[in-house]
Amino acid sequence: MNDLVAPADTSSFDVETIRRDFPCLQQDIHGHPLVFLDSAASAQKPRQVIEAQADVLRHSYANIHRGVYTLSERATDLHDGARTKVQRFLNASSKREIVFTRNVTEAINLLAQSFVRPQAKEGDEILITGMEHHANIVPWQLLAEQAGTKLVVAPITDDGELIVEEFDRLITSKTKLVSVTWVANALGTVNPMEQMIDMAHAKGVPVFVDAAQAVQHRPVDVQALDCDFLGFTGHKLYGPSGIGVLYGKATHLEAMPPYQGGGDMILSVAYDKTEFNDLPYKFEAGTPAIEATVGLGAAIDYVEAVGLEAIAAYEDALLAYATRALQQVPGLRLVGTAKHKAAVLSFVMENAHPHDIGTLLDLDGVAIRTGHHCAQPVLDRLGHGATARASIGMYNTEKDIDALVKSLHRVASMFG
Ligand code: ALA
Repeated sequence: MNDLVAPADTSSFDVETIRRDFPCLQQDIHGHPLVFLDSAASAQKPRQVIEAQADVLRHSYANIHRGVYTLSERATDLHDGARTKVQRFLNASSKREIVFTRNVTEAINLLAQSFVRPQAKEGDEILITGMEHHANIVPWQLLAEQAGTKLVVAPITDDGELIVEEFDRLITSKTKLVSVTWVANALGTVNPMEQMIDMAHAKGVPVFVDAAQAVQHRPVDVQALDCDFLGFTGHKLYGPSGIGVLYGKATHLEAMPPYQGGGDMILSVAYDKTEFNDLPYKFEAGTPAIEATVGLGAAIDYVEAVGLEAIAAYEDALLAYATRALQQVPGLRLVGTAKHKAAVLSFVMENAHPHDIGTLLDLDGVAIRTGHHCAQPVLDRLGHGATARASIGMYNTEKDIDALVKSLHRVASMFG
């Protein structure tokens, strides 16, 4: 990201060493070396994550919090150890504030049902931005059906930037929650999150930060940010799928009823009364994704060893290189040209449908995402049903971008 991160010392950042850790990158597709440019959808995994998961399954697997025997205690320690790593990663003040979920989608559904719904009155509002993923739209529409709340959308410019004054104006006494993305998945726009949180708090409104596209690109400190809630997902952070995190200030989480009922979220159960468990277990019904949680801990160790500030500086330089290179492709137009962007290049080309672009690139071994990127409203706003999207991870290189651009030139000559 290019607005908030101080210039980092990247002298120790060695992309070739990093690449060697990612087995999936070491292959040919259609006779070409794989060029993986779809990390915003899901990132590849280093062997350290793969081995951590395999190791728990091979040697330390049992259900957690339930056994008095050694194996279960070992699995429990690994699982709880991963929570400590998440706490440190986010600089949360307590492990009680780290709730494991399946992904950010589940974190937002949890918030809708357990934070907003119990206090919602007809006409209360949830404020989002005009560049959200469906995961930060549909749960609020479901809530609107259930509780009569209203979804309010802060507008964006044609470049894909939030109109900050409008956002501020839309925070009113009716706003129950501001729920906003830090980095827009379809455009790469980096929102001025500190400023947005200050604006909401000045009017007494709590804020959820969707950091699904942020935590892998910059250091995050929830105490410095002072957000009320924040969500991220493991699979975009070079970790496993099926595991995500909801961070919440303990004062909020304590006041919220459970989201789902079942095992592990209780202290005692009788037919006439159930006593719920303490934080964070109150929100973690059923057997969790044990090996995925351990894998998430390994992913956090990995990115911390590389260094988030070094990753940010490296990726910013690569994004600038890629932006310049794509602008040279005949008939190509970038979608999302905000001043502050991270890791994402969405684009359209004259006469070529994004799906055709994606299919032709695949023949050259280049993997990008095409379509609406689970963010239809923002693409509609910018006048596109679909775009092609190349997205950068810490393992990408200028050579990857050169391969993308070469392949795009071929598309341009076929469709031009
Ligand atoms: N949210 C994911 C993306 O942006 C799937 O592609």
